[in-house]
Amino acid sequence: MNSRCATTDAFVFFRAWSRKPLRVASIVPSGHSLGRLITQELDGTCGPVIELGPGTGAFTRAIIARGVAEQNLVLVEMGREFASMLSRRFPRATLFERDAAELGSLGIGGPVGAVVSGLPLLSMSTNQVEAIMSGAFKHLVSDGSFYQFTYGPLCPVPQKILRLLGLESKLIGRALLNFPPASVYRISRKPL
Ligand SMILES: C[S@@+](CC[C@H](N)C(=O)[O-])C[C@H]1O[C@@H](n2cnc3c(N)ncnc32)[C@H](O)[C@@H]1O
Repeated sequence: MNSRCATTDAFVFFRAWSRKPLRVASIVPSGHSLGRLITQELDGTCGPVIELGPGTGAFTRAIIARGVAEQNLVLVEMGREFASMLSRRFPRATLFERDAAELGSLGIGGPVGAVVSGLPLLSMSTNQVEAIMSGAFKHLVSDGSFYQFTYGPLCPVPQKILRLLGLESKLIGRALLNFPPASVYRISRKPL
């Protein structure tokens, strides 16, 4: 991405945050180190990928750089300002301008290998988080994973929800160079 694009992204992001601070939850887009970390287990063989809350596309670019074809990407973004930017930048991806809590009822068109989430789960209600997680695992293949970043000290999906849905979480790394520093968790089905 060139410096002009980076400046546009920073401006669009800051303006969106100033209007909807809880929905956007960060004043700047994620940096390259977090994008690399959250996509480190993806490659061209993992099949379709759903991205939740792509914003200006920081993780979208990182997913594509891992070898996932743009037409194999399903983007779910609730913010109109971001959705119109994403449809111009990633015209071959499938874009839903919807609430990720509706994920379970979206016609994705087949199972996916991974879900990458930039959603601010810590600002959401327990019911919303449960709907997002159950919706995501409805679309994921049996050994597929959900990747979530957080600025907090723990996995942002409450233990109660993980237990209820038969899931487990594992910290896969920290991006200390990101602003703010962030951690990434892999959430997957518990082995039977
Ligand atoms: C912290 S920003 C992350 C943006 C981008 N992934 C990044 O890392 O730069 C959160 C994003 O999630 C979107 N978002 C928040 N709540 C959402 C929801 N319920 N459904 C879909 N998108 C949502 C926001 O509009 C924003 O784009």
